[in-house]
Amino acid sequence: LRLFSGSANLELSQEVARYLGMDLGPMIRKRFADGELYVQIQESIRGCDVYLIQPSCNPVNDNLMELLVMIDACRRASARQITAVIPYYGYARADRKTAGRESITAKLVANLITQAGANRILAMDLHSAQIQGYFDIPLDHVYSTPVLLEYLASKDLSDIVVVSPDVGGVARARSFAKKLNDAPLAIIDKRRQAHNVAEVLNVIGDVKGKTAVMVDDMIDTAGTISEGARLLRKEGARQVYACATHAVFSPPAVERLSSGLFEEVIVTNTIPYDNSKNFPQLKRLSVA
Ligand code: R5P
Repeated sequence: LRLFSGSANLELSQEVARYLGMDLGPMIRKRFADGELYVQIQESIRGCDVYLIQPSCNPVNDNLMELLVMIDACRRASARQITAVIPYYGYARADRKTAGRESITAKLVANLITQAGANRILAMDLHSAQIQGYFDIPLDHVYSTPVLLEYLASKDLSDIVVVSPDVGGVARARSFAKKLNDAPLAIIDKRRQAHNVAEVLNVIGDVKGKTAVMVDDMIDTAGTISEGARLLRKEGARQVYACATHAVFSPPAVERLSSGLFEEVIVTNTIPYDNSKNFPQLKRLSVA
């Protein structure tokens, strides 16, 4: 077994390597003057099971391209099996056509990764479960729920209601609530008017006087979760926690998340730590 890391989240890769008691494999990765990428594996991997860790987070196109080049290099070096470990799958929200003449980019990405030569995928908290079926190779879909739940349990919260910030996230929130001692569920009816602009309309369920735990796969601009939290506060929630696997945190996420709406914003390290995106309410848990 050999483990290699792309440049997207070295900290997570190193933690995984430590956990497995092994070193990350040696690899040269550099850019030519024109921005083109060069990758060379620095040891023989002939006949090996190779794991390549690379989330396709920002800059998503560069990180995705780097993964493709790494896979290609491993395939041409006669690896026996190549597993692409993709803690955060970029373009996952482009998982269907919502209007004419659009691309289903999540499927295109799956095609590219498969075509490059991956034999197996390990992905965490995909935005939508059907992305598993975009691949014709085996895909292991793992969840950050155990890590998030363990942390929440340590806080000893009472009178919890788990809240899905939109209708699309109900299955995820329901499964989370079930594992949280069958906590009740509330749903926010969100309507979007434009990309990255969330408009919240209604809460379905009882949140008055309760500790609301909002669960989502990702926080990008934090529009969804902060508009949801505002509404929950208005409806009488006593405390609001945000839990999400992928801390994308595009501007103005940090301003929104640190504006006093949340007791805590609990995320994982699928996307690398960026000190400029730190704020007092942030709790970052490891999924290594
Ligand atoms: C939407 O379906 C996703 O699950 C997230 O709720 C959404 O993409 C988060 O984006 P933002 O933080 O920009 O509202």
